[in-house]
Amino acid sequence: DDAYLITHALAKDTLLRLRDVETEQVAFRKGLVKLGRICGYEIIDGVMETEYVTVQTPLTETTGERVKGLDDVVIINVLRAATPFVEGLLKAFPRAKQGVISAGRDEDAGMDEEGEFPITVDYVKLPEITEKDTVIVADPMLATGSTMCAVLDHVLESTEADPTDLFVLSAVSAPDGLLRVDGQFPEADLLTVSIDDHLDDDGYIVPGLGDAGDRAFR
Ligand code: PRP
Repeated sequence: DDAYLITHALAKDTLLRLRDVETEQVAFRKGLVKLGRICGYEIIDGVMETEYVTVQTPLTETTGERVKGLDDVVIINVLRAATPFVEGLLKAFPRAKQGVISAGRDEDAGMDEEGEFPITVDYVKLPEITEKDTVIVADPMLATGSTMCAVLDHVLESTEADPTDLFVLSAVSAPDGLLRVDGQFPEADLLTVSIDDHLDDDGYIVPGLGDAGDRAFR
């Protein structure tokens, strides 16, 4: 029900390089992986609790902190631009269960008066989601929010359970998209590295970073 900025300096530094039009495909993809990892660490640091446990070192017994809930994470990959972003997230959550949804804007139909795009959903494969789970729906771009709303419909329809936490994670977002997702899914917390200025007439985030899918894959 809130939007949180990921403010880690390395996240901002990495995003700056993703925005740069000179950043070519390989560097762009690696940047998304890196940003996903940083965002994962930030989610752990900001949200997840730790517990004290004892550990036997080669020399003695001592105590340390363990992150709770790392076994109960579900990451949803919104094809296609989220794939490298999720690869990074998995470095922070190596035991996460993964769901995949192929959802994309029908660019030919264009934006309607409401500022929404029709969304085509082609493929949905989700793991079981339980009450214990922290669910992270990852898509580097949140523009009009149309894609994310369609994805969240599928995610929430797939389970009776109320996950402990539901996060929508983006690298770059637009104010309109955040408002749309928050309005339709008040139970979701919105995490983003940057809230950009506005959407242009084609529904592109400005200043943004262009088309993340094309830049990473073409
Ligand atoms: C981009 C992006 C999001 C969506 C955001 O995907 O990765 O999924 O647009 O726009 P929205 O908030 O206005 O819905 P795109 O449809 O270009 O597909 P792709 O990832 O396959 O390139």
